[in-house]
Amino acid sequence: MKDKINKLNSDIQIEFETVSNLKSLEDFRIKYLSRNGIFAELFEEFKLLSPDLKRDTGKLLNEIKNSWQNKFDLKSEELKNSSESIASKIDISLPGIQKPSGSIHLINSTMDEIKSIFRNIGFSIITGPEVESDYYNFEALNFPPEHPARDMQDTYFINQSYVLRTHTTPVQIRIMEKQEPPVRAIMPGKVYRNEAISARSYNLFHQIDGIYVDKKVTFSELKGTLIYFAKEFYGSSLKYRFRASFFPFTEPSAEMDISCFLCNGKGCRVCKNSGWLEILGCGMVDPNVLKSVNYDPDKYSGYAFGMGIERIAMLKNGITDIRILYNNDIRFLKQF
Ligand code: DAH
Repeated sequence: MKDKINKLNSDIQIEFETVSNLKSLEDFRIKYLSRNGIFAELFEEFKLLSPDLKRDTGKLLNEIKNSWQNKFDLKSEELKNSSESIASKIDISLPGIQKPSGSIHLINSTMDEIKSIFRNIGFSIITGPEVESDYYNFEALNFPPEHPARDMQDTYFINQSYVLRTHTTPVQIRIMEKQEPPVRAIMPGKVYRNEAISARSYNLFHQIDGIYVDKKVTFSELKGTLIYFAKEFYGSSLKYRFRASFFPFTEPSAEMDISCFLCNGKGCRVCKNSGWLEILGCGMVDPNVLKSVNYDPDKYSGYAFGMGIERIAMLKNGITDIRILYNNDIRFLKQF
């Protein structure tokens, strides 16, 4: 039995070296030192020995069991202290680590703001496809076949009859085809033009078009709506003016300027010393456009307008290079 005890002693030694945490120490205790453990079994075996063997064997067994009990107690103390010391190193009063959170892109937040201004005065919001047929992008909007906007230099052609839309105005046709007047909607979205990329132009940008068609819609209603919009968006002290212009799909047509809010109309680099900034195109829907959607131009009239979002966002925030909106520099984006 003495041999067995010595063998056990060296086995335990090997196993004890692998104990590295409180859980494995507890497993160790259960296996060897508990009431049903291996030492307890050995003491049962010991009882059966003859009295002359008992003396030596008992001494050995007791010594070894006690030495392991001591080592167990020491290890237990040591492990408890080290786990406590880790806990004591954690300072729960420290501020947490802040995770950076994203923000809404300036183009989207500008669109959201414009949308909510028009939504408040009864315009619905409608979207249309970015790949558009020549018919919707040009023909139904009264562009003559030889109009320069149809030029390869401005338009991305998918094939003979499809283009990447060059403006959001085709959505006006799509709405009017589906619905009888009154029609009152704005149409936000992406548009594409085959332009050389520079500080002032990009080949992708965003527009919002608007249309209102009903009986007896007048140019003064158009002006009233756009002045309301501009004051809501830029502030009520703003000055504005309408200049005659030309678009194939409106007659008469105009452009709206607002007083330059950077120099207060005195003249600066942004307004090119004119004191004015052009913010949108507009006009009365051309009778030919009404005809193309089977609206009777003698019965109905309407106004329309369209604005470029990049331009509006850049002017409002003093941004001078359009490319900065698209190169995803976090230092720029996180300012908004
Ligand atoms: N589609 C024009 C453009 O891209 C903008 C525009 C002007 C839209 C007048 C309109 C409008 O609806 O009435 O430059």
